[in-house]
Amino acid sequence: MKVLPLVYLLPLALAEDFRPLYHFCPEENWMNEPNGLIKIDSTWHLFYQHNPTANVWGNLNWGHATSNDLVHWTHEPLAITSGGGVEAFTGTAYFDGNNTSGLGTAQNPPYLAWYTGYITANETQDQRLAYSVDKGGTWTKFAGNPIISAAQEAPHDETGGLESRDPKVFFHEPSGKWVMVLAHGGQDKLTFWTSSDTKRWTWVSDLTSDQIPGLPSGVQAWEVPDMFQLPIEGTSDTTWVLIITPAEGSPAGGNGVIALTGSFDGTEFTADPVDPATLWLDHGRDFDGVMSWENVPASDGRRILAGIANSYGESPPTTTWKGMLTFPRTLTLRQTGPGNSLQFLQQPVQELAGVSGSLIATIQNQTITPGDTLLSSAQGIALDIQLAFSIDANAILSLAVRKAADEQTVIQYDSSNGTLSVDRTAAGDTSFDPGAGGVHTAPLQPDASGVVRIRALVDTCSVEVFGGQGEVVISDLIFPSESSEGLALTVEGGSAMLRSVEVHAISLSG
Ligand SMILES: *[C@@H]1O[C@H](CO)[C@@H](O)[C@H](O)[C@H]1NC(C)=O
Ligand SMILES: *[C@@H]1O[C@H](CO)[C@@H](O)[C@H](O)[C@H]1NC(C)=O
Ligand SMILES: *[C@@H]1O[C@H](CO)[C@@H](O)[C@H](O)[C@H]1NC(C)=O
Ligand SMILES: *[C@@H]1O[C@H](CO)[C@@H](O)[C@H](O)[C@H]1NC(C)=O
Ligand SMILES: *[C@@H]1O[C@H](CO)[C@@H](O)[C@H](O)[C@H]1NC(C)=O
Repeated sequence: MKVLPLVYLLPLALAEDFRPLYHFCPEENWMNEPNGLIKIDSTWHLFYQHNPTANVWGNLNWGHATSNDLVHWTHEPLAITSGGGVEAFTGTAYFDGNNTSGLGTAQNPPYLAWYTGYITANETQDQRLAYSVDKGGTWTKFAGNPIISAAQEAPHDETGGLESRDPKVFFHEPSGKWVMVLAHGGQDKLTFWTSSDTKRWTWVSDLTSDQIPGLPSGVQAWEVPDMFQLPIEGTSDTTWVLIITPAEGSPAGGNGVIALTGSFDGTEFTADPVDPATLWLDHGRDFDGVMSWENVPASDGRRILAGIANSYGESPPTTTWKGMLTFPRTLTLRQTGPGNSLQFLQQPVQELAGVSGSLIATIQNQTITPGDTLLSSAQGIALDIQLAFSIDANAILSLAVRKAADEQTVIQYDSSNGTLSVDRTAAGDTSFDPGAGGVHTAPLQPDASGVVRIRALVDTCSVEVFGGQGEVVISDLIFPSESSEGLALTVEGGSAMLRSVEVHAISLSG
């Protein structure tokens, strides 16, 4: 592991700047969504939209960090830089194991990254290629860039190619072709392109909202596509999954993330009918620009997602940094209900257990009744909290975190209507943006044995709340006072049987 630069270890001021403990954020300045997520040998690479010179969106480069466990991150030099009037916008990475691009050698095939070039002089976007022949350590821009010009995009884009971006590229085995999925800013469509050499691309199809049965009409302005195959649990089948960040229509406002299933023949994606109730991967305000790690070995087999937590632009009250990676989560698919419809499940990656130090509170098989307050002697700002309980028909169980006399973020389960919620109205500083407070809800039913499960990751300036087996998630940023570190577990309107409650303190120093 590389030694961290001294500046990262020293100033206490950084720790006081809402800096998360076990989530990635830039050492300094701005980040937005992750880019080019790829595992190479035992190293998880994280690239991300980064302004290294100011704490605002602009001057975008691919920042870079590496990890052996998705929890401890080492900051690395910029990977794909802005320069010559061209900024490096979002894109993805893939292993060119056959040296199809000719940019490596047969003995040392290259890793490729496709990104959007943003030409500042005329605000045009085109698609570009970079490659690495040292396992992702350094990246060289392809001399023939752009590989898709704005002029080539123009017939397929309402803005004449000005706003075509976010290339997701993968190799499609059955057709033997490379496939690119592009977003078109402000438009409700994606385009699909194919290539034999990773460098010359041909448009092959559009995917528009009217081709997705049941898609609510408000789900608009699609960005940041990701696409991959995922096994269906309990079967030998797989299905294609297409993930999109629409800028409009999400349950909590701001950008959100939808996940579609469907089939793909190498040129056209055919979407399964959409169930609006299970369409969104997250019901909170702060989960978007989601991508998944590629090149994860089959022996691991996980599809792991991460996005950006920050839907308020430059407004959050952090001074040295802006924008945080959501905690990496696995994505799986199960069949459910009479129609065997598919449902996504998400869970924090198991690597979190490696830093879940002391068990600071535990409760087993204890009934909680109105008037009781449990967990009040526990405290912390970096926690993994797991609850399993059964609850009376009209009762409401509330877990307050980051609690002080006049501050708290309340995670609640309302049994009367099967609703999981996160209430940020008294969470701390919500004045910086009209969307920073409020209550976010998601439907959640007890499991077949009547047990409700909730897992809450708390980290300095965020809560990520997973319901059930991960069929719903609510992710939100919060900005409480540093001293608001209490917990409280209460019930009203009836009682609850706490099967198991565990509160783990997260500690990176082990
Ligand atoms: C890989 O690309 C390099 C550079 O063009 C070329 O010299 C080499 O022969 C290629 N190898 C294979 C197996 O395609
Ligand atoms: C934008 O500028 C680039 C670089 O000078 C040029 O190649 C491209 O044609 C321009 N695009 C438009 C749409 O003007
Ligand atoms: C590499 O070549 C093998 C053998 O032709 C093929 O099965 C595989 O799909 C190719 N993979 C890529 C990424 O080109
Ligand atoms: C709690 O109750 C469940 C269900 O009755 C039982 O299986 C479990 O062993 C109990 N756990 C403890 C620690 O008593
Ligand atoms: C569930 O019921 C509670 C209490 O009546 C109410 O405040 C809340 O808005 C309801 N939630 C939903 C999603 O209907």
